Amino acid sequence: MCGIVGAISERDVQGILLEGLRRLEYRGYDSAGMAVVDGGQAVQRAREVGKVAALVDAIEGNPLKGHLGIAHTRWATHGEPSRINAHPHMSGDRLAIVHNGIIENYQELRQELKTDGFAFTSQTDTEVVAHLIEKNYRELGDLYSAVKATIARLRGAYALAVVHADEPDHLVVCREGSPLVVGVGIGENFIASDQLALLPVTDRFMFLEEGDIADIRKDRIDIHDREGTPVERSTHRFEHGADSADKGEYRHFMLKEIHEQPRVIKATMEGRVTASRVLEQALGTDAENLLDHVRHVQIIACGTSYHAGLVARYWIEEVAGLPCSVEVASEFRYRKHVIQPDTLFLCISQSGETADTLAALRQAKQAGFRAALAICNVPGSSLVRESDLVIMTQAGPEIGVASTKAFTTQLTSLLIFTLALARHNGLSEEKESEIVQALHLVPGQVNDVLSLDGEIEELARGFMDKNHTLFLGRGSLYPVALEGALKLKEISYIHAEAYPAGELKHGPLALVDSEMPVVTVAPNNDLVEKLKSNLEEVRARGGELFVFADREAGVASEDSLHAMQLPPVHEITAPIVYTVPLQLLSYHVAVLKGTDVDQPRNLAKSVTVE
Ligand code: M6R
Repeated sequence: MCGIVGAISERDVQGILLEGLRRLEYRGYDSAGMAVVDGGQAVQRAREVGKVAALVDAIEGNPLKGHLGIAHTRWATHGEPSRINAHPHMSGDRLAIVHNGIIENYQELRQELKTDGFAFTSQTDTEVVAHLIEKNYRELGDLYSAVKATIARLRGAYALAVVHADEPDHLVVCREGSPLVVGVGIGENFIASDQLALLPVTDRFMFLEEGDIADIRKDRIDIHDREGTPVERSTHRFEHGADSADKGEYRHFMLKEIHEQPRVIKATMEGRVTASRVLEQALGTDAENLLDHVRHVQIIACGTSYHAGLVARYWIEEVAGLPCSVEVASEFRYRKHVIQPDTLFLCISQSGETADTLAALRQAKQAGFRAALAICNVPGSSLVRESDLVIMTQAGPEIGVASTKAFTTQLTSLLIFTLALARHNGLSEEKESEIVQALHLVPGQVNDVLSLDGEIEELARGFMDKNHTLFLGRGSLYPVALEGALKLKEISYIHAEAYPAGELKHGPLALVDSEMPVVTVAPNNDLVEKLKSNLEEVRARGGELFVFADREAGVASEDSLHAMQLPPVHEITAPIVYTVPLQLLSYHVAVLKGTDVDQPRNLAKSVTVE
């Protein structure tokens, strides 16, 4: 959603804030702004519609000078993207705030503040918070107390950073339901929605907990919890290289992240598997005891992470022989459920901050699940902190809004988890060894697929002038087809749908004609012959087929069938490998269409509001 960044330093903070915004732009990019408290102790503010580059251009000849500042990149929730709705919001000309989240009771507060004489210039929920802090400031006389009194009246989710020109030696920040991290410097300190924003200035971070409020000064960080008790939050060093937020030689983050997959899949396996076995202790000291008791798995996630969960269901039921249910978090959280005894609640999330997934987890903890396991990519995220057991994917920061390496490392983690669970449910050593050996081959197989990039780019030309695409898969490759369709629609804006190939004749076949490309993934498994029949059904209706097939599956190019030959893969690991050509296909279609690949319209990387 939105991204916030703030700094207090001996040096001018404009450069730090702009670089932070650039790195946070994946979170929201319909407008950006910053406010800096200058030496004369006034607040200067700049806001622009569009990307951070527009803000940079706007302040180029007229820099905002000062040692204390806050900045924001927006993903609109209340009020259209416009300069007046862009953050920072101010009350009067001395107080400025930035906000990520949603204030649910903003209408009633707005009425109250209007009655008190405050004038509103925007349609946002955030401006209400600015005025309420100012009102409390007038009564209480200091910023910290004013912020504290204000948040006691807010309902909803927020991460806030507040500055006041009368108190130029600190900023006050707080969080409830939206992420906020404090970057620890030497004689300077920072805050941001995400560590990535601050990597050029520090690699030491404190993660604020829900309900925390912090007073950030150049040389001191004081944190109080929800009850007002002073608390220490431990400092962690950032684990990935500081340049992980750069595109390097690649044209887009998405392409870079697709190409990183062999390395990050390997990194996700490291320390968790030997040549032939899963090391279940690597899943946590309690893992062995827990897995012994699990009789059912309930998976919850959103978007791409949900697709990873759908693949895992095939694995858990086939390899571990246990029942597994998968549901999108936004549905799960709003219905009544029957919980089977000894059910493990498994959340999958790249960011660990997805509002629906977190809400589902919090409900589950009250509802009597055996334990909560998280598969997540962001250390220190809310999901990681609130789960009993965690498997960290080792994808490194994923900047492209369209998830790629996070998905394949989620699958890798889920397969390792499945094998550990299966061991407690009668999986033979021989079978475990066969699957682990197959997993070791995956990074090399993904590399082989990446070498087909040029050919896939050629295929992508066939989609440029199309408005719709159908994706087909069978078995555990059906979720891969779903993920392929999601990628295509997210970044190329072509309408895409996925079906289990066997469903084709039950309806979607009516759509097939020469204007409807049909993309299929066809590893050489038990279902390949059935899949070939489905392909014939398409060809018989004049449909154009794009088939990513095992080179031993006997699918060759002819007439309206474009076959791309992939290396042979084990049927269990096929979903990981077959995801990659679909990522490349979407990427090239988007580039050919000239869309904004890394920051597609209307989307945000981390969906921290409902
Ligand atoms: O951070 P999460 O994995 O919880 O995010 C879930 C979805 O919002 C995310 O996967 C979304 O669907 C991506 N844009 C997919 O590319």
